Amino acid sequence: MKLLDDIMKRAQSNPQRIVLPEGTEIRTLKAADIILKEQAARLILIGNEGEIKKLAQENKLTHINQAQVIDPETHPEMERYAQLLFEIRKEKGMTQEEARKLVKNPLYLGCLLIKNGDADGELAGALNFTGDVLRPAFQIVRTLPGIKVVSGAMLMFTPAKQYGEDGLLVFADCAVNPNPSAEELAQIALCTAETATKLSGMEARVAMLSFSSKGSATHELVDKVKEATRVAQSLAPGLLLDGELQADAALVPSVGQSKAAGSPVAGRANILVFPDLQSGNIGYKLVQRFSGAQAVGPILQGMAAPVNDLSRGCSVEEIVHMIAITANQAMK
Ligand code: ACO
Repeated sequence: MKLLDDIMKRAQSNPQRIVLPEGTEIRTLKAADIILKEQAARLILIGNEGEIKKLAQENKLTHINQAQVIDPETHPEMERYAQLLFEIRKEKGMTQEEARKLVKNPLYLGCLLIKNGDADGELAGALNFTGDVLRPAFQIVRTLPGIKVVSGAMLMFTPAKQYGEDGLLVFADCAVNPNPSAEELAQIALCTAETATKLSGMEARVAMLSFSSKGSATHELVDKVKEATRVAQSLAPGLLLDGELQADAALVPSVGQSKAAGSPVAGRANILVFPDLQSGNIGYKLVQRFSGAQAVGPILQGMAAPVNDLSRGCSVEEIVHMIAITANQAMK
């Protein structure tokens, strides 16, 4: 996949410091070994140093010794990170004692490394649930100024070359917000356009999806998508973004022409923004299974620094791609 090769090359050109909190998870270690061999990032592994060394030896991972290892049980800076956590969360009722306990959780420690300027991004989730990866990121790394919601985009490499950019489409939100408001949906659209442009260089053409095209149906769910379209257009007047559109009107030129004549996006969208998480998550999985598309992500967007979540069923190759993507997102 040429785009994934380009993302890897960009990561190699400017290696970022990426923390992997699941440092003793074997697929993560294997991926880390590849990334270090390719010099695509500087890696920080959280976990027991002896265990990491043993796993590396047993699996002949000869580059792991280039990674920095942070063991939460022995790291000399733990008290400083606990204080940082306490400062960030004391208004939410966290005590110093709770902070000292929580800082030993690698998912919290990884985010504290980012917050303290000791890492540029994080990738986890081969072992942990999505919510457990996201919560510390939301609480500690937080969102970019002006952004209220973090969302998850999927790069969909489909064999249907007639759609999107030679078969490549970006779907969102497929991972985080169960039922976004119109304002949140507008933010998700703008963040997705930025993610797509930053990672692929594509001209963003964003379709705000619904079961209605340009007033063909009336319902409060359609009104939400219409309002999100209005907000997004007013926030980014130069962006090619239109709605509300059905998926066929967004993708197929003849259908776009008949259902939304004059739209700058209909029939040629490369970014599909779904109205809620059910449609986004179901939509990407159906496309993946029925078309044999390669789905890469979710790529979390809107955070002050990149933190990404893996599927627990992920392969070593997927982790390698996601480390490179996280490193690309971390580049200023
Ligand atoms: N963006 C930014 N911040 C957020 C977001 C968001 N989307 N959602 C919650 N937060 C913040 C809150 O403001 C809060 O911050 P605070 O403590 O400083 O006030 C903190 O995160 C915790 O908020 P809660 O409402 O308590 O969040 P909760 O922990 O209940 O849920 C979560 C957050 C876990 C991400 C939830 O939205 C969720 O479960 N989403 C679905 C995830 C999922 O299962 N996805 C499908 C699988 S992924 C896949 O298939 C690709």
